[in-house]
Amino acid sequence: MANTILVGAQWGDEGKGKIIDVLTEQADVVVRYAGGNNAGHTVWVGQTRYVLHLVPSGILRRSKLCVIGNGVVIDPVGLMEEIQGLRELGVKVDRNLRISETAHVVLPYHRELDVAREQRQRHNRIGTTKRGIGPAYADKAARVGLRMVDLIQPERFAEKLKLRIRENNEVLKAWGARPLSYPKVLKAYQEAGAFLAPFVTNTVALLHQALQKGQNILFEGAQGTFLDIDHGTYPFVTSSNTTAGGACTGTGVPPNRIDRVVGVMKAYTTRVGEGPLPTEDHALGDLLHSMGREYGATTGRPRRCGWFDAVAVRQAVQINGVDTLAVTNLDGLDTLSTIKVCLAYRAGQQRYDHLPADAAELAACEPVYAEFPGWCTSTSQARRWRELPVKARAYLKALEDLVGAPIGIVSVGPAREQTIFR
Ligand code: IMP
Repeated sequence: MANTILVGAQWGDEGKGKIIDVLTEQADVVVRYAGGNNAGHTVWVGQTRYVLHLVPSGILRRSKLCVIGNGVVIDPVGLMEEIQGLRELGVKVDRNLRISETAHVVLPYHRELDVAREQRQRHNRIGTTKRGIGPAYADKAARVGLRMVDLIQPERFAEKLKLRIRENNEVLKAWGARPLSYPKVLKAYQEAGAFLAPFVTNTVALLHQALQKGQNILFEGAQGTFLDIDHGTYPFVTSSNTTAGGACTGTGVPPNRIDRVVGVMKAYTTRVGEGPLPTEDHALGDLLHSMGREYGATTGRPRRCGWFDAVAVRQAVQINGVDTLAVTNLDGLDTLSTIKVCLAYRAGQQRYDHLPADAAELAACEPVYAEFPGWCTSTSQARRWRELPVKARAYLKALEDLVGAPIGIVSVGPAREQTIFR
């Protein structure tokens, strides 16, 4: 396998975890490059369900080196618990996991500020995961963040943390939130720091060693294109570059070492949290929820559901330079007699073939739909392209024409074997 970036082509939760798991088989190294424990990848191995938040899903395959890159923000207590949970399930972590020394640390005041800001905002809530992601990246940009290299040096960390807690407590008090106890935070974080220290290293050097040896790297994207801080439906986005460009800045691997980009999309659209979702359809959401599908892996929130939005995915194909698409959850549409696809948006007399920059303008857009006949038969047993119903293949072919990239992988269920390579 070539060095591959895997990104979400919609609003996150595209089913990347499963595709990453399948592609990991051909990779030597798997690296996360953005986001934090706001992400949640669900992977099924046999009858066991794993939900990973920070650890790359490659960890489930023994021989793979897994790296948490510098672009990620790390909640050390959460990561420690995740590693302990994996160990309890018998997953070997010690030799396979490495954490960037320059990744920024999420601290309790980031979480408190995240929650307090959402409460204060009332009418403009983003619907964050409350994991402190926005405030942690804000501190990174403001150059007042603490990094893993600080966390693993107990005295230096204690000193820096004291100043940061003092300053953030002022803000929390002004916002009517409870200030934090420095000794309590220090104790919890020093414990987590000691636990994580053996994993912390210069991951840029490590990744370049892997490149020199000719090893294959899989860059594991989190969230999706329209949650990207620059390219998403701002301000209803997360605070990192979730798109393919983030893979280079978030790991230190340069663009000329990337061979291909795989974009993952559902056969329909989902989103969690607030913000515009032009093709949202409550009846489709009810159907998918009644099938037990579309509940968030991190927060358990029901996802908002809608028809496939070709305007959005076409834009995602461009921004990420998608070479190949992976379509997931095709089986979610198995019972429908008619399936809609959004070809363009319309607001009054204006027609759009791209997402307008202003979220309010996007929210005012109506989708222009084409209708496709459903296949009304189960696809979950299909293992080859030609085993898919003719109407399902026609639907998928139409999608690739509309978005401008070929479909190379189709997923028809959560199990590893429910994956069709075309
Ligand atoms: P934050 O990343 O917690 O700040 O949340 C910002 C927005 O991104 C909210 O709408 C979240 O629901 C959304 N979001 C963050 N992480 C994920 C994810 O892994 N999947 C889907 N949506 C996400």
